[in-house]
Amino acid sequence: MTHEKKLKCEIWNDSMQNWKSKPIQKAQLIIADVPYNVGTNFYGSNPVWYKGGDNKNGESKLAGKAAFASDFNFNLYEYFHFCSQLMRKEPKKGGARGRSSDAPCMIVFCSFQQQFTLIEAAKKHGFTKYIPLTFVKKSSPQALKANMRIVGATERALLFYRSYLPKFRNGAEYDEDGKPIRGTGHMVLDWMEYERDGKEIPKIHPTQKSVKLLKRLIEICTDPGDVVIDPCFGSGSTGRACLETGRQFYGFEINKEFYNRAKNEMLILPDKMPVSERKCSKCGIKLPESIKICPICGTEVNS
Ligand SMILES: C[S@@+](CC[C@H](N)C(=O)[O-])C[C@H]1O[C@@H](n2cnc3c(N)ncnc32)[C@H](O)[C@@H]1O
Repeated sequence: MTHEKKLKCEIWNDSMQNWKSKPIQKAQLIIADVPYNVGTNFYGSNPVWYKGGDNKNGESKLAGKAAFASDFNFNLYEYFHFCSQLMRKEPKKGGARGRSSDAPCMIVFCSFQQQFTLIEAAKKHGFTKYIPLTFVKKSSPQALKANMRIVGATERALLFYRSYLPKFRNGAEYDEDGKPIRGTGHMVLDWMEYERDGKEIPKIHPTQKSVKLLKRLIEICTDPGDVVIDPCFGSGSTGRACLETGRQFYGFEINKEFYNRAKNEMLILPDKMPVSERKCSKCGIKLPESIKICPICGTEVNS
């Protein structure tokens, strides 16, 4: 099992701009959900704008507030500079005839409107190619004034790469010469369901991404043991997805509260837990008494 390998999971309560002072490896995949710059409109379509979710009660303290302070001053160009330095180099050759290669890539979550700015900024840093991705939700979080109007039920991301089509793992099996066995791979569609997390994942951040979705993206774009970086990790959801899929993880988060909660609640590392003889019945890792759900396989653990 891939999880038996000791995985690196290093996180820093610091700006990604300070990466030079950290022992960090280059990434096969960078996943980022950059601060949205939605400023004072963050709760604009959400019932929490009003006290008790009802506009008859007047505005709540969240009305006119941003989700977090960095919403206003995030520097996109610094972000792409970080990525150009910390993403692995291109392999010497690409995949044959339109096939994927071992090249790295980056996935940036964004709104529809942000795509154009991101594409321009990425191009200036050598990420000239991109694939838009759409994640489809079963319902819309935009509950206010929802009748008789079109409401958002999708999230988007752009997958950027430099020149060769990146590593895409799609279930293909390989023979002993490293050639893909006919009929074993599947296409990767440019849309997928946005599967929500259950109770086993703590809710820490206002714009937290689902670990299930992140796991799916990580499994498509990397192999077990590959390095994934999230430069703005918020709740630590990408780190958790890496732990659960056997990938190495490095991450930055400037907000101390999010950092502490990610460290203590989301990134529960089996090898750092207090020693205990209690084991998960499914995957066999040792777990301390306080853990009720196995962080690796999600199995409920009896005491
Ligand atoms: C949109 S949120 C990320 C949410 C995250 N994807 C999740 O699932 O929880 C962006 C995060 O970036 C952090 N941030 C902003 N500027 C940063 C910087 N320069 N370096 C590191 N983190 C930063 C913010 O504090 C915020 O928590």
